[in-house]
Amino acid sequence: MKIGIVVHSFSGNTMSVAERLAQSLSEKGYEADILRLQVTGGENRNQRDIGKIALQLIPDMKGFDNLIVAGPVRGFQASPVIRKFFDEVNDIEGKNVAMFVTHAFPYSFFGGKSAIGQMERMCREKGAKVGFTGIIDWGSGKREKQIETLVKNITDLM
Ligand SMILES: Cc1cc2nc3c(=O)[nH]c(=O)nc-3n(C[C@H](O)[C@H](O)[C@H](O)COP(=O)(O)O)c2cc1C
Repeated sequence: MKIGIVVHSFSGNTMSVAERLAQSLSEKGYEADILRLQVTGGENRNQRDIGKIALQLIPDMKGFDNLIVAGPVRGFQASPVIRKFFDEVNDIEGKNVAMFVTHAFPYSFFGGKSAIGQMERMCREKGAKVGFTGIIDWGSGKREKQIETLVKNITDLM
């Protein structure tokens, strides 16, 4: 089984969770490739208009059996880089997708829920099936437990 982990991460929080997930998946015997989204010319974190964002590369999804998509919350929304990815990606129709966000506040209703809901909609609009959603409340004392649970749940699902 080949799993693609599409990640947007500016300051490294989301990437650190993606790396733990990749490790857990490879321990289960799966091939897990992290595909980090990068913005052409460098990222301006205040840019919300996806028309003004160009991704260096839209990863080719054809070779993956299952997908994981993850990014940070930005202003109570999915990050513009993740929104740009869903706007441009092809070949995810019919694929199973697990997704998660990280955000600063300790409670998921401060952006986490709205962002993951938006990602879910964008994913379904591309014809993919959303099999799991998760939120890591980075500012919460439960963060480590949330990460462990998320890694286990996604690994078990694949
Ligand atoms: C422009 C901007 C907007 C943000 N908006 C929110 C928000 O609405 N809610 C929240 O909880 N965190 C918000 N954050 C914090 C990030 O979501 C959080 O630090 C995340 O874990 C960063 O992930 P990364 O290190 O993978 O980039 C925002 C950060 C930035 C830079």
